Amino acid sequence: MSIPTTQWTPTHGDPYRPVPYRPERMPAAESLARAAELRERMDRRRTVRQFSADPVPEQVVRDAIACAATAPSGAHQQPWTFVLVRDPGVRRRIREAAEAEERVSYEGRLGEEWLAALRPLGTDEVKPHLTDAPALIVVFQQRYWLGEDGEKRKHYYVDESVGIAVGMLLSALHLSGLAALVHTPSPMRFLSEVLGRPANEKAFAVLPVGYPAADCQVPDLVRKSLDQVLVEI
Ligand SMILES: Cc1cc2nc3c(=O)[nH]c(=O)nc-3n(C[C@H](O)[C@H](O)[C@H](O)COP(=O)(O)O)c2cc1C
Repeated sequence: MSIPTTQWTPTHGDPYRPVPYRPERMPAAESLARAAELRERMDRRRTVRQFSADPVPEQVVRDAIACAATAPSGAHQQPWTFVLVRDPGVRRRIREAAEAEERVSYEGRLGEEWLAALRPLGTDEVKPHLTDAPALIVVFQQRYWLGEDGEKRKHYYVDESVGIAVGMLLSALHLSGLAALVHTPSPMRFLSEVLGRPANEKAFAVLPVGYPAADCQVPDLVRKSLDQVLVEI
């Protein structure tokens, strides 16, 4: 099934134009079964830091990005750009720049409290996933809207909107059979330079995407139980 695409144009100041929305209601039994299955499948997602170099079906990645771009956003401003990097030379430049920043971070910039929080994850300044994974999705936040003539407009709830979109991206990748990592080298300014992004965009995260390496290991982490995160009133 192909999805028709229409070109979005800015709606700033347009009048309210309601259209009917009548999705078919799912029977409760089906809802229950789907929710239980989804919960179980999502619980199997793990952050992967050791990737196979095997290529991934490119359309799966594009579809996952299209899923992310269905996310809700403040004032429907959709303040995100996803840069899909497959070029090995560009991935190498990103790795070199990220490792240079991470070296400074791990050698002290993070501080003891942060380093202690990271210790159970087994991470360090070496970031092979940036070149091993066959694709990187670099997510940018559009801090403000920038028109072609240089006009600027404020964007609202950018952090929240992009965070939700990245959550949907991770879910889509996982449910489509791919593994990913949310990597946040700090600071991330080098990503705008390497990828030539405009002044209104700020890097949010780099997501290596691929299949786990044959000898992939993940930290033995325990997730909070439902009763630790849910308050029902
Ligand atoms: C906002 C954010 C930033 C993260 N940054 C990094 C990172 O820079 N490097 C890394 O190895 N993992 C990073 N992670 C991954 C987390 O360490 C991981 O999600 C967490 O340990 C839980 O593991 P799980 O995803 O396997 O459940 C980040 C995750 C989030 C949500």
